[in-house]
Amino acid sequence: MKLPSIIGHRGAKANAPENTLAGLRRAHEEGASWVEFDVKLTKDNVPILIHDETLERTTNGRGPVRDLTLESLRLVDAGCPAVFGDRFKGERIPTLEECLALLLELGMGFNLEVKPCPGRERETAILALRTVMRVWPAHAATPIISSFKLPALEAARETAPDLPRGYLSERLDAGWLEAARRLDCTTIHPGFRALTDAQVRLAKHHGYPVLVWTVNEPARAVELRGWGVDSLITDTPGAIAKAIA
Ligand code: G3P
Ligand code: MG
Repeated sequence: MKLPSIIGHRGAKANAPENTLAGLRRAHEEGASWVEFDVKLTKDNVPILIHDETLERTTNGRGPVRDLTLESLRLVDAGCPAVFGDRFKGERIPTLEECLALLLELGMGFNLEVKPCPGRERETAILALRTVMRVWPAHAATPIISSFKLPALEAARETAPDLPRGYLSERLDAGWLEAARRLDCTTIHPGFRALTDAQVRLAKHHGYPVLVWTVNEPARAVELRGWGVDSLITDTPGAIAKAIA
């Protein structure tokens, strides 16, 4: 599978509100051909883009995402006012469907991270994957579906066996290879902090491309590429692309 060297994290988190359409556009403007984003379900089971279980950090709303319907979630300002002030005022929490429509228009690929609220692992994966299968055309770039939650990856495999799955983990502890194999994962997505070059070599030896997050330091990006890392998931896609060029 052909992977990009740079993937915008939650869009382009450092320069536009995370997990918003403005963030996807910003990643595209910075030259990224792929983005990563996080998907949860609303109370009424609509897959949307948001990272946290509550609204406070990234919006001007309050409360748990799992208790709110799409209609009420649409009323909040998702322009990350705490970080960007009024610059992105009016930005809304996007549905997964809206996100995919924009990515298609921009000609971008994506890594969908299933980020379920606790207890909603299977249903989040199933409903997100059904949306992808319904709206994402076969001729477009094949996406990668990742999750920290193994039940979500299992449900992803049942729902969309042909869509590649990514084994996502803060660190590659003993047992990662067995877990990745058991879930028929195609790629490995470790955090950069605990990663070693020996682990990258081992993953590559077993045929797994390695996608590392969240790499915002140019020197670290160069080092990881030197180890053979395939993709860097970064908040600043433009700057990291320049660093490794
Ligand atoms: O998918 C990579 C990365 O996004 C995982 O961590 O917390 O940023 O979703 P997080
Ligand atoms: Mg994520």
